[in-house]
Amino acid sequence: MKRFVLAAVAAIVMSTAAYAETIKVGVVGPFSGPFALQGKNFKAGIDAYMAINGNKVGDNTVEVIYRDLPAADPAQSKALAQELVVKEKVQYLAGFYFTPDAMAVTPILKQANTPLVIMNAATSAIVTKSPLVVRASFTTWQTSTPIAKVAHDAGVSKVISVVSDYGPGVDAENAFKAAFEKEGGQIVEAIRMPLSTNDFSPIMQRIKDSGAQGVFAFLPSGPTTLGFVKAYKENGLKDAGIKFYGPGDFTQESDLPALGDAALGIQTTFHYAVSHDSPENKTFVEAATKAIGNKAELSFPAVGAYDGMHIIYKMIEATGGSQDAAKAVDAVKGLSWVSPRGPVSIDPESRHITQNIYLREVTKADDGTYYNKEVQTFENQGDPGLAAAK
Ligand code: PHB
Repeated sequence: MKRFVLAAVAAIVMSTAAYAETIKVGVVGPFSGPFALQGKNFKAGIDAYMAINGNKVGDNTVEVIYRDLPAADPAQSKALAQELVVKEKVQYLAGFYFTPDAMAVTPILKQANTPLVIMNAATSAIVTKSPLVVRASFTTWQTSTPIAKVAHDAGVSKVISVVSDYGPGVDAENAFKAAFEKEGGQIVEAIRMPLSTNDFSPIMQRIKDSGAQGVFAFLPSGPTTLGFVKAYKENGLKDAGIKFYGPGDFTQESDLPALGDAALGIQTTFHYAVSHDSPENKTFVEAATKAIGNKAELSFPAVGAYDGMHIIYKMIEATGGSQDAAKAVDAVKGLSWVSPRGPVSIDPESRHITQNIYLREVTKADDGTYYNKEVQTFENQGDPGLAAAK
């Protein structure tokens, strides 16, 4: 009997010890190609979180495994996620810059018993595709709604909308339209461009010809947004006084040196600015700068990744390291904390992040550098797109 008890205790200890080994997190993002800087920001945010909080949760050691997905490629995204789950035995999937890549992974989560913590992809509907999705980033509904009031309050009543023709673009168009029309404004034309568009001159001509006083736009942040803002300046729209409105993807800090005066004065609404003045952001920016090697390269995907890791650490804590995706997700419903971006919480119904959205204006500092200056706060914003996503 005594022997049996000892053996049983040993078995329990061993199985606990087995859990207390290494918890793997598989992160998929663009680490090469035109969007490589966005993926580099994922890694900087993750490294910053682990530098500040250590790589252990209880007895468990956290290991992050990266997979490169340079562009929106749903088939490849699913293949990478499957490989991470089956071969690498990751307990968590995370990252995902582009919406189609995140969408493609939602059908495998249940069988894989794996939560998906989204660090960027911003289409509202993603969280409705599986109860195992939690989003640490933002939605374009969330970031594109408040700018409509800003435009209207500035006396702009006729706007042309220009978006990339895929999930977050269509959401952004609908969000801005709903909020702008509610203010009494009018959308004179709505253009949806293929995601691959990189010559924006014809679009700029259409904006001029539309007679609109302003343009609302959304494109995924990266070379795309950089090219669009440059074209807005180079085609004379800025100088002609056609106002530019959009979510903050357009003026990510890492693009501001290249945009220079072309971006000066542009107002955007977004969940995060590198300049955000708080002790939490100071700690974050220091650690993330160390991780990325150059402060000028820091941008919003780093904060999505940093908060995504916070969510994963809380999940590991709640499950004691055992693989129980439903329990892990339940544990973070209603979780609230102070992020580098400000106070945030996970909505228990949608599993999407509730947060402040800030109006920011691209400003030139005394030292000649450009930054997003926060000028107004829209507090505690949920996702207005979730009703539309159902
Ligand atoms: C997306 O595909 O969901 C996405 C990508 C880049 C952004 C925003 C959203 O800046």
